[in-house]
Amino acid sequence: EKGGFEHFMMKEIFEQPRSVRDCMRGRIFPLEGKVELGGIKQYTDKLKNAERIIIIACGTSWHAGLTGEYLIEEYGRIKVEVEYASEFRYRNPIITDKDIVMAVSQSGETADTLAAIEIAKERGATILGICNVVGASIPRVTDAGVYTHAGPEIGVASTKAFTAQVTVLTLIALYIAQHKGTLTPAKLINMLTELDTIPDKIQLLLQDNDLIEGIATKIKDAPNCLFLGRGFGFPVALEGALKLKEISYIHAEGYPAAEMKHGPIALIDEQMPVIFIATKNSSYEKVISNIQEVKARKGIVIAIVTQGDVKVKNMADYCIEIPDADEAFLPLLATIPLQLLSYHIAVKRGCNVDQPRNLAKSVTVE
Ligand code: M6R
Repeated sequence: EKGGFEHFMMKEIFEQPRSVRDCMRGRIFPLEGKVELGGIKQYTDKLKNAERIIIIACGTSWHAGLTGEYLIEEYGRIKVEVEYASEFRYRNPIITDKDIVMAVSQSGETADTLAAIEIAKERGATILGICNVVGASIPRVTDAGVYTHAGPEIGVASTKAFTAQVTVLTLIALYIAQHKGTLTPAKLINMLTELDTIPDKIQLLLQDNDLIEGIATKIKDAPNCLFLGRGFGFPVALEGALKLKEISYIHAEGYPAAEMKHGPIALIDEQMPVIFIATKNSSYEKVISNIQEVKARKGIVIAIVTQGDVKVKNMADYCIEIPDADEAFLPLLATIPLQLLSYHIAVKRGCNVDQPRNLAKSVTVE
């Protein structure tokens, strides 16, 4: 049942070329520069005219939601707010019938997310769901939605469900752009053509498994770990930190790289591994200065870099290369090595990766 892998988590990490492809199947038409999302088709006008979208979720799904904010604001030019369902539900939120609320949930059963949906519904918002488990409670109470089609996820740590959620949010951002005209047809063709190659790039990335296992050996005894990224790399840093803490019990924090000097920099010494998302994109040079700041304090730098990079390679202690891609697709690629890193660290520390202590696969009580 684990398909020859030692753990479900590893099986699910290795399924991602297929699960991301399944998620896009029948939904993207690169040659025509078109996205089709049957599940939300009747809400197309509402979506393209929306002044505000509120994304509600918990945990890893909240991180996917944050990538959604970056994607929808950049390409669809609609204001997005990302909310923890647990905070939203108890805050007397300002919601009207003009708002679109998107609920992101792998299980479709998370208690706080369900309760947040009920509140938004009472106040007249249109509710769209992004769920994995077909027919679960959340898809039953939403007005419409887009399934992630990642297949059953058994490992408590979310992996393939996360990349599928990010894929759906990427499709929604491009769908809005297509209908609003915020991207030209030529740009849409380019982006969808590239999105179509992402599953193959994920496949290539999985070949770094041994290299990543080697890095895991070097840092597995660290008591703390920092994950830093900017722009599209920021949600990736948050997700990398959550994955590490939940399965290896190493205290980890994700931060926007520029926030480091507002506090976390005080923690850096020769014991502290700092994982940077340092790919070649609009924030590359800025991230390089942050790496220099960490190296000046003798921190151990592990960098996710674009294939062929030399600059970061000369500074970092360890590098993991990822294929070059439009920065919109960075979360889909840069997340994979971080999943593998957490997995190997946890296994080397003797942890139960599929069922970490104190955690449940779906949190059905608040
Ligand atoms: O089923 P959901 O997506 O609603 O679950 C939300 C979180 O409980 C979940 O993502 C949790 O953070 C995972 N254990 C993360 O790996």
